[in-house]
Amino acid sequence: HPHVHYQQDQLQVEGCDLGELASLHGTPLFVYSKASMLDALAAYQRGFAGRNARVCYAMKANSSLAILQLFAKAGCGFDIVSGGELARVLAAGAQADKVIFSGVGKTRTEMAVALKAGIGCFNVESEAEIDVLNEVALGLNLQAPISIRVNPNVDPKTHPYISTGLKGNKFGIAHERTLMTYQRAAALPGLKVVGIDCHIGSQITEETPYLDAMDRMLDLVESIEAAGIPIHHIDFGGGLGINYNGDTPPAADALWHKLLVKLDARGFGQRQLMIEPGRSLVGNAGVCVTEVLYMKPGEQKNFCIVDAAMNDLPRPAMYQAFHTIVPLQYSPAQPSTEVFDVVGPVCESGDWIGHDRALAVKAGDRLAVLSAGAYCMSMSSNYNSRSKAAEILVDGTNSHLIRQRDEFADQIRGEKLL
Ligand code: LLP
Repeated sequence: HPHVHYQQDQLQVEGCDLGELASLHGTPLFVYSKASMLDALAAYQRGFAGRNARVCYAMKANSSLAILQLFAKAGCGFDIVSGGELARVLAAGAQADKVIFSGVGKTRTEMAVALKAGIGCFNVESEAEIDVLNEVALGLNLQAPISIRVNPNVDPKTHPYISTGLKGNKFGIAHERTLMTYQRAAALPGLKVVGIDCHIGSQITEETPYLDAMDRMLDLVESIEAAGIPIHHIDFGGGLGINYNGDTPPAADALWHKLLVKLDARGFGQRQLMIEPGRSLVGNAGVCVTEVLYMKPGEQKNFCIVDAAMNDLPRPAMYQAFHTIVPLQYSPAQPSTEVFDVVGPVCESGDWIGHDRALAVKAGDRLAVLSAGAYCMSMSSNYNSRSKAAEILVDGTNSHLIRQRDEFADQIRGEKLL
């Protein structure tokens, strides 16, 4: 967490004191470092220096408008998976032709809106979707630029819920059916084949799955082009992991150096390349600040009950994910002798944020949950009728409120009494 550090025992994000931000805006509060996001992007840009490559930020990781705006200004395209995500990136000032649309369940309405907006590419995920997209495009007198998402059948060695490139997953078209699917698509007048893509999973911390997937993709590109269908761009998806708990994923530039050596060796180095990173651009840029409500010692477990919960930070409950938790005020004099389960107020035993954490804290103290920039706010909900948290983007010593805390009225907007 390069931009999250203690300054005289107080936790800061860049030049902003988290305790001050929490006093000003309340808790739970998400705070993001702009420099951290731009540094993460720069690692990819360094890796691609001199290449024809585009980073399409997988915005599902964090879809807050100001963050989309930041990446749009930095030259990124976007990987979207719904009409809502399309509306968000356009509202944030993205160029439609830099948008690619993934996902196994695009509706006709979503397809039509995206076609009219002029997005760059549909990443098609099934043979049935090919026919529907063709129909929708012809109905609008348009041609849909497409890429077929290939399921390369490699094991990304990550949590089963977030591995997507294995045979048993719902994503992509089986490797063996790819060529014939391209031939079918190329014959349809409403479609224009422009690329090929894959995405093998998320929180990948090894390079081998990427290298294997690349070999399998390039084999396919060779056979598709031999059949007379040119492939203009190759999209390798996202998935690069971050450090949550001593994880050691390859650095983006180092990984891409290796992948580019392989691409060059096989004669594809000058192709247009695309990638769809999400987590690795924003994950370690964010923290969630929460206040300790109660300390509750127990016979079997001690609990530290905080004001953030599974509706704000769903990853532990959903994937048994680990997030480091640290106090805002560092106190070396007070070593933590006891361990606590850090839990939220939601009425479920699954509402935990950290198990067995050594903490020297008392009610009223504040904690920071680290690596909370990806798949936290974007996956948050109003469960237990809890209002969504506020978000701050820090830029040096300046802080910008990029999302105000929801009010109760936001929660019931659209609801009607009988
Ligand atoms: N492209 C596609 C087609 C995807 O499905 C995803 C993520 C990405 C790119 C970006 O992957 P990333 O670079 O962020 O790993 N909620 C889970 C992660 C779900 C990932 C879904 N797909 C979590 O919190 O771990």
